[in-house]
Amino acid sequence: MSEHGVFVTFEGIEGVGKSTQLSRLCARLQGAGREVITTREPGGTPLAEAIRGLVLNAAGEVVSPTAELMLMCAARAVHVENLIRPALARGAWVLCDRFFDATYAYQGGGRGVALAAIDQLASLTLAGLTPHLTLLFDAPVTTALARAKSRGGVTDRFESEQEAFFERVKAMYHQRLQQDPQRLKLIDATLSPDAVESLVWEQVKLLIGGQASAVQR
Ligand SMILES: Nc1ncnc2c1ncn2[C@@H]1O[C@H](COP(=O)(O)OP(=O)(O)O)[C@@H](O)[C@H]1O
Ligand SMILES: [Mg+2]
Repeated sequence: MSEHGVFVTFEGIEGVGKSTQLSRLCARLQGAGREVITTREPGGTPLAEAIRGLVLNAAGEVVSPTAELMLMCAARAVHVENLIRPALARGAWVLCDRFFDATYAYQGGGRGVALAAIDQLASLTLAGLTPHLTLLFDAPVTTALARAKSRGGVTDRFESEQEAFFERVKAMYHQRLQQDPQRLKLIDATLSPDAVESLVWEQVKLLIGGQASAVQR
C-alpha cells in the first residue's frame, strides 16, 4: 500500500484541548499549502458516525465492555478504509481526533478489557496502519474535566464517568507513551492555548524533518 501522506492523531481525556489544537494545526498546515483532512473517532464517515451515535448515547440497555470495544473497532475499520487510507494515498495530511490508542486507554484502561483482545482487534482493523505522530495531551483529570464541563453540551456515556475512570484512562495513555516514545509525544496541556499550539508545532516540525519526502508535496 502506498501511503505518502502524514497521519497525526490527537489523544488524551475529555477537555484537554484536542479539538482546539487540531483545528489550530489544520489552519497552520493549510496556511503552508498542504491538503489537510480533519476527522475524529469514533466517526469520520456516515456509517462510522452512526456507530458513534449508538456507542456514545446508548441508554436503557447494558453495553458490555466487549460490545463497546467491537463497536469502536467496527467504526474504525470503516473509517480507515473509506477515509484515512485514501487520503494518505493521495498525499494529504490526516489529523484525527482520537485513534487506536484511545481504545487501549478507554476500553482497556477505563473498562478493563484484556489488552490481548485489543491487540488482536487492532491488528485486524489497522492492517499495519500506524500514525506517524501521536500527540498525547496531558493535564490533571480535574483540570481537564472542569474544562470539558465549562464547554457545555450534552453529556455522553464517557463524559458521565467518574474521575477514577479517567485516572485509569490517563494511566493507560502513559503506558502507551512508555511503550512507543518514538511515535507518542507528551504535550503539556495545562499551558495556554497558544503555548500548547507552539509545542504541537515543534513536534510537527521534528516530524517533517524526519519525513522530508512525505511533506515535500
Ligand atoms: N490550553 C487551554 N487552556 C484553557 N482552556 C482550554 C485550553 N485548550 C482548550 N481549552 C478550552 O477547554 C475546553 C475543552 O477544549 P477541547 O478542545 O474541546 O478539548 P477536547 O477536544 O480534548 O475535549 C474548551 O472550552 C476550550 O476552549
Ligand atoms: Mg474534542
